[in-house]
Amino acid sequence: MAVSVLAQTLKGSEIIKIGNEINELKRQGQNIANLTIGDFDPNIYPIPSELRDDIIEAYQANHTNYPPADGMLELRKQVSAFLERELRIQATPNEILIASGSRPLIYSVFLALVDPGDKVIYPAPSWNNNHYCHITGAQEIQIPTTAENNFLPKAADVAPHLKGATLLALCSPQNPTGTMFEQSDLEEICDLVIAENASRQRGEKPLYIMYDQIYAMLTFGKKHVDPVTLRPKLKDYVIYIDGISKCLAATGVRVGWGFGPEKVIAKMRSIVGHMGAWAPKAEQVATAKYIQNSEQVHNYLNIFKSRIQECLNTLYQGFQQLKSEGFAVDAIEPMGAIYLTVKADYTGKTTPEGEVLNTSADINFYLIKEAKVALVPFSAFGTDGNVNWFRASVGTSSLEDIQAMIPRIREALSKLK
Ligand SMILES: Cc1ncc(COP(=O)(O)O)c(C=O)c1O
Repeated sequence: MAVSVLAQTLKGSEIIKIGNEINELKRQGQNIANLTIGDFDPNIYPIPSELRDDIIEAYQANHTNYPPADGMLELRKQVSAFLERELRIQATPNEILIASGSRPLIYSVFLALVDPGDKVIYPAPSWNNNHYCHITGAQEIQIPTTAENNFLPKAADVAPHLKGATLLALCSPQNPTGTMFEQSDLEEICDLVIAENASRQRGEKPLYIMYDQIYAMLTFGKKHVDPVTLRPKLKDYVIYIDGISKCLAATGVRVGWGFGPEKVIAKMRSIVGHMGAWAPKAEQVATAKYIQNSEQVHNYLNIFKSRIQECLNTLYQGFQQLKSEGFAVDAIEPMGAIYLTVKADYTGKTTPEGEVLNTSADINFYLIKEAKVALVPFSAFGTDGNVNWFRASVGTSSLEDIQAMIPRIREALSKLK
């Protein structure tokens, strides 16, 4: 079938391949602990009951027609108040755009700023920037990061690439690593962006930052930092991505917000409008009502976050225990989001069936078959296949499931020669 070059060259998702393998094993009656998806099992992590009731009430009140293109004013007002109250970030309702989750916002940032051939810089591993670069024909510059730096970029890593670049895509707390920027590291990167923009000619397109903070409310004690709060001079150059998908376990509710310079937000509004990617009106009405009640939000978050943190810590401690027993594994202490970064350094080892594990994907498939635990290798997020680090997402597993994984991983790794 003849389709566009874009469609022909879309990259398949490695996560979907892993999902297919899991489904095949499930069909054979096996029970696989699936740590691959950045989602929640709603039976383990339901959305706040008040939000659910508010959504139902909004439908009963017939909020079923088109919402305004930039989102309902009441929601934009409440988002503005929420950002100020929770994160000390200032954004007026005119600087805020509502969409059906944060993905259309990310896509519209790319479409609003990036011309074909423009340089877009982002760290590897990172989530989905490669796909948006592909769709917009951007020249993508992936910056390798290291475990020592919690897989976040440092100023020295980005500095060589900023000349002439259009967009620097950053995320904290980061998917896939669950790690967060140190204030000084982000400050140094911000200073480079300020200097780069000061060096550009009048009328030249500036360098923008897309700052994805969709996990900002899911942190475990470490302070979330953001570019404009640290460097107010950057106000005209930073577009933030945020929303309720992760912090309220509401991935299927589809309410996201982006905010930034009004001129860019206005263009993004038109693009989101052409996509028709508005958040459903009833969900907007309900979200506005829900987030204005700070006590309600915090009651939910306190319980939700402590459960997620307990799962991440259990897995982290399990990997530390295996490491202390001499296994070639490691993990980075969880800081935020729903992810743990784990290492299983087993390339070159041979399975009991005599197969040699050549890549991180091979190690992953071995763990799926032998330990019944599915992770996602960082190669799915842009690193080389020889980087033996993986993302473990805890949103669809119970604490008991997670506790039961470690002995299975131990047994599987013991069989490798
Ligand atoms: C960093 C990051 N940004 C954005 C999204 C997309 O969120 P939404 O479901 O609101 O489109 C995800 C989802 O996994 C994510 O991890």
